[in-house]
Amino acid sequence: MSATATARRLPPMVEESMISQVWKISNGKNEIFDQARARFGDSFGLNVARGNWYFFADPEDVKAVFTASPTALHAGKGNEILATALGDYSLLLLDEGEHMRQRKLLLPSFHGEKLAKQTAAMERISEEIVSRLPKGESFHVRDMSQDIALEVILEVVLGTAATGEEHDRLGEATRKLLDWIASGLRLVASSVIGPRSRPIKRMYKPALAPLDTGLYRLIAERRNADDLEDRDDILSMLLLASDEDGRPMTDVEIRDELVTLIVAGHETTATALAWAFERLTRVESGTERLHEESLTEETTYSRYVAQESLRLRPVLDFVLRRVMEPIEIGGYQFEPDDFLCPSIYLVHRREDIYPDPLRFNPDRWADQKPGTYTWFPFGGGVRRCIGMQFAMAEMEIVMRAVARAGILLPVGPDEPTVSRFITSSPKRGGQVRFAF
Ligand code: HEM
Repeated sequence: MSATATARRLPPMVEESMISQVWKISNGKNEIFDQARARFGDSFGLNVARGNWYFFADPEDVKAVFTASPTALHAGKGNEILATALGDYSLLLLDEGEHMRQRKLLLPSFHGEKLAKQTAAMERISEEIVSRLPKGESFHVRDMSQDIALEVILEVVLGTAATGEEHDRLGEATRKLLDWIASGLRLVASSVIGPRSRPIKRMYKPALAPLDTGLYRLIAERRNADDLEDRDDILSMLLLASDEDGRPMTDVEIRDELVTLIVAGHETTATALAWAFERLTRVESGTERLHEESLTEETTYSRYVAQESLRLRPVLDFVLRRVMEPIEIGGYQFEPDDFLCPSIYLVHRREDIYPDPLRFNPDRWADQKPGTYTWFPFGGGVRRCIGMQFAMAEMEIVMRAVARAGILLPVGPDEPTVSRFITSSPKRGGQVRFAF
C-alpha cells in the first residue's frame, strides 16, 4: 500500500482565505482563535503563508510538542522571519546540536550568583527612572519600562554602564533598530520576500549598521580588556566561554547572541509590565495592595500580579515549531513542513484550569502553582526562554519601584490589544497616573 493511499488524520481546518487568516493572526485581536476553538475544540489548523499551522489548546498536546525530540521539531525554522536583524547564529534561529551548543554557552549568564548581581542593577536603574516619573500627569508604563529594560539589558549584557558615551551611542542604535523592526509592514515584506534575501538585507542595513559597528568595536576592545575575568557582564562571559571541544565563540556568533538578548529581552519585558499595570489598575484595591506590599520586604502579591498578567495578557500568544520528521500528537499525524503551535492564549483561558478565566485575579495564584504545560508565557522544553527568571525578577522589581512611589489609577477605558512587532501590546502602552 502506498503512503498516499491512507489519508492522514489532521485537525479540522479553518476555511478562510490565506490573506484573511494571516491578517487575523497578526492583528493582535485573537478572535480567530476564540472562534476556531468554539467551533472545532482544542486542535485546529490555519492556512498560513508557507504551510498549515496547527494550534493546540490541550495541555497534554502542548506537553507532547514541548517534549518531542529536537530532531523532529525545529523552533529555529519557525523563527526565520527574525533572521535579518538577529543573524544566522542567533539562539532563536538555531536547531539541534548548534542550538544546544550556543544555549549551553549562554545559560550560565542567567543563573544563581549572576542573577543576584543582575537584580541589583535592575533595582538601581528602576529607582532612578521611576524617580523621574511625572507626578501630576498621566504616563505610559511601556515607555518607562522600555527605558528601564533597555538600560538594564545594556548594562547586564554589554557591561557598558560606566563608559557613558559609548553606552548612550549603543542605546540610541538599539532604539533605532527596535523601532525599525516593530513595523508590521516590514515584517510582512520580510515574510513575503524572504528575511535572508538581498532586498530585505539592503532595507535593514541603515537600521542595523550603527548597532553592528558599535558592537564589533566593543567586542574588539573587550577582548583585550585586562579585567575580562573579573567582569560580570554577558559579553565578557561569552568572550571567555568555550564549548565541550574547547572552541571559543567567533565575533559574529557573539554579535548575533548580543543582538538576540537585547531584542528578546527588552520589548517583551516592557510590554509585560505595561499589561500588568493596565490590568491591575482596574482591579478593586489592586494598586493599593501593591503599594502597601512595596513598603515591606514581602513580594508575594507582586509575584501573583506578574503571573496573572502573563496568564491573561501573555505578550506572545503562541510558539511555533516546524515539523522535520513525521510525528503523532493528540492522535493526529503531522508531516515535514507542517507547523505546530502550542497556543499560550487559549490554554491560559481554559475554564477547567482557570475558573472565571477572563477575570484578572492575582489571588488565584494563592491556590495554584503555575503548571509547566498550563502556564507557559515563556514557551517550553529545550527552547524555553532563557531569560525567564531574569524577566520575572525585572517585572517584580519594576512593579515594586513604581508602587513605592504612590498609588496608581487607570487613565481612560480598558486598552485593547494591538500587535507590535510580534508581541500583543496594550493600545496606549498602559496609560496610568498617580493618585495625588
Ligand atoms: C516577560 C518577558 C519575556 C517573555 C514573555 C518571553 C517569552 C519568550 C518565548 C515565548 C520564547 C520562545 C520559547 C519557545 O519557543 O518555546 C522565548 C525565547 C527566548 N527568550 Fe524570552 N521572553 C521574555 C524575556 C526575555 C529576556 C529578559 C531575555 C534575555 C535577557 C530573553 C531571551 C530569550 C531567548 C534568547 C530565547 C530563545 C531561547 C531558545 O531558543 O533556546 N527573553 N522568550
